[in-house]
Amino acid sequence: MTQENQKIIALQNQVDQLRQQLAQAQKLTSLGELMSTTTHEFNNVLMSVINYAKMGLRHKDDATRVKSFEKILAAGQRAARITQCILGMARNRSDNFESTDMKAIVEDALVLLEREMRKYRVAVERDYHSVPPAMANGNQIQQVLLNLLTNARQAMPRGGTVTIRLSYDEKAETVDLMVRDSGQGIPPEKLPHIFDPYFTTKDGPDASGKGGTGLGLSACRDIIEAHNGRVRVQSTIGRGTAFTIKLPVVKAPVPAPGVTLPAGMPTGSSETA
Ligand SMILES: Nc1ncnc2c1ncn2[C@@H]1O[C@H](COP(=O)(O)OP(=O)(O)OP(=O)(O)O)[C@@H](O)[C@H]1O
Ligand SMILES: [Mg+2]
Repeated sequence: MTQENQKIIALQNQVDQLRQQLAQAQKLTSLGELMSTTTHEFNNVLMSVINYAKMGLRHKDDATRVKSFEKILAAGQRAARITQCILGMARNRSDNFESTDMKAIVEDALVLLEREMRKYRVAVERDYHSVPPAMANGNQIQQVLLNLLTNARQAMPRGGTVTIRLSYDEKAETVDLMVRDSGQGIPPEKLPHIFDPYFTTKDGPDASGKGGTGLGLSACRDIIEAHNGRVRVQSTIGRGTAFTIKLPVVKAPVPAPGVTLPAGMPTGSSETA
């Protein structure tokens, strides 16, 4: 073997190692974000319980006490919904793709983020069309959604609207999930880099502890790529950004593992995976 070949093999090994480290870093970042989201949410719920319990103790009249109990009940029910989501994610740790109800995945992600959205004055609009099941790993898609929704929120520092659209592209045989914000937009010269690992324009984590590592979108791209899907982005400065994810629908019969599913062939704009 020539010296040149040895060098190439050594470099290839190095690249493989760096790839593995990157995948690990991406996983840890999403886990960290999930932890910080759920911890925040839980803390908010606990604060409600504590404050309304105090109110009920302070005021002796029936009306105030009934109101306090109602608020405590609502907070408790919300806490139960949050733990259900987390348990669901923890239970399904496999990397398998299966028939997935995308609407349920979106709603679960929103349970975790709805309060944060309200706090930052972001209205969430749902535009759900009827869609067939997608061939997907629910946990991973939820991770993608949390990343996209957090980016959307951070692009609207003075609040705005995020629209989540679910639709079926019959021709491409894909379920399309779009997350659109009314935020600052992405300058055209930055657009080609947003999926690069560690590319960020944020100074660091915001008040909610999120953002600034630049791994969010690179993890999204890797996940969608593994799904044989597509992700495309359209952005206009000052008007907003829309990310669309196209996932293959479940075909009957379900293909054996290793069989490549056809994916959509969207056009135009910046596109990856
Ligand atoms: N919806 C959006 N609107 C405007 N810019 C965006 C949007 N989504 C992503 N970007 C740009 O792409 C960059 C990369 O996004 P990415 O999610 O990968 O990293 P990040 O949000 O900076 O950090 P983190 O990895 O912690 O999420 C962002 O820093 C931002 O400049
Ligand atoms: Mg991000």
